[in-house]
Amino acid sequence: MEKIKIALGADHAGYAYKAKFIEYLTSLGYECVNCGTDSAESVDYPIYADKVCKQVTDEGCKFGILICGTGIGMSMAANKHHAIRAALCGDVESAKLTRMHNDANVLCLGARIIDYDKAKEILDAFLGQSFMGEHHIRRVKMLDELI
Ligand code: RB5
Repeated sequence: MEKIKIALGADHAGYAYKAKFIEYLTSLGYECVNCGTDSAESVDYPIYADKVCKQVTDEGCKFGILICGTGIGMSMAANKHHAIRAALCGDVESAKLTRMHNDANVLCLGARIIDYDKAKEILDAFLGQSFMGEHHIRRVKMLDELI
């Protein structure tokens, strides 16, 4: 069976969470595409958001995971891409609901806001939930037509 591909990107504030996520997701059987960065040297988050989003829209990744200090810059950058529905989540319930209702395909997290265990819980919730479809299909289509 073909592995589900997930693209991961972070800036200097989020690279340590990303490294642990890659290890964790690989152990679960996902194929991880590491879009960088991989050190504490200061970098610009829009570069990594763009790399991850392109993996999702053009290179067969089912999901993208983006981590910066707050998750806000990453989500702003990601949502400028057509067909990317990026959700900044700080709790498990939002992560489930954004998959169910918005068919979110990119999860953004703030490494300076939530601790690693919380971030991992949110990641699990996001990946474990499916899109509900029904009337939400119309709304998701409207989202994608905005850009
Ligand atoms: C980097 O210092 C910080 O601005 C970045 O990680 C992020 O929080 C931006 O939204």
